[in-house]
Amino acid sequence: MQVLLSREELSEGVDRLAALVQNDRGTQSLVLVGVLTGSIMLVADLLRRLNGSIEVGMVSASSYRGVETTPGELDLHLDLLPDVSQKHVLLVDDIFDTGRTMAALVEAIYSRGAASVKSLVLLRKKSRVEVVMNPDYVGFDIPNVFVVGYGLDHNGAWRNLPQICLIDSPANF
Ligand code: IMP
Ligand code: MG
Repeated sequence: MQVLLSREELSEGVDRLAALVQNDRGTQSLVLVGVLTGSIMLVADLLRRLNGSIEVGMVSASSYRGVETTPGELDLHLDLLPDVSQKHVLLVDDIFDTGRTMAALVEAIYSRGAASVKSLVLLRKKSRVEVVMNPDYVGFDIPNVFVVGYGLDHNGAWRNLPQICLIDSPANF
């Protein structure tokens, strides 16, 4: 598999993202909400780089079914979301593809009474975006290719790779 982003590049990217978040929030407490399962590595690496009072929660969203690589209907599960009313939330996901997942989650978290909701993604496929919203923080813009590793999967596998790799034709894997 071809490496698109090496461990070093990812680490520098997360440094940069964490510094931006840290700079914007100052001493504000934060609820960091990761989107399962793809954000797990990013959440852990971000948390290590952020100071001060931070709560952590997870939500899940799935738009991909089985071997399909085009987004289907969106399922949101907010049962692991802590109380966010009057709190500042940072929503963290692996990738902003069509953007439908992040857009729906931002709205859902606001409807739970959050004081503010910012969004952070490691990757964005600019040419695929279908929504009006823009993530507040983007690690890397990538072309319209299918990637795995650093939390991202193909059919549930490859999340363990420490770098982001390219799958040219997902059907062959
Ligand atoms: P969106 O709602 O279209 O933005 O979909 C975002 C979700 O699609 C991400 O959280 C990923 O789970 C999945 N996804 C999109 N592109 C890729 C990819 O290249 N590799 C692995 N998962 C992807
Ligand atoms: Mg995902």
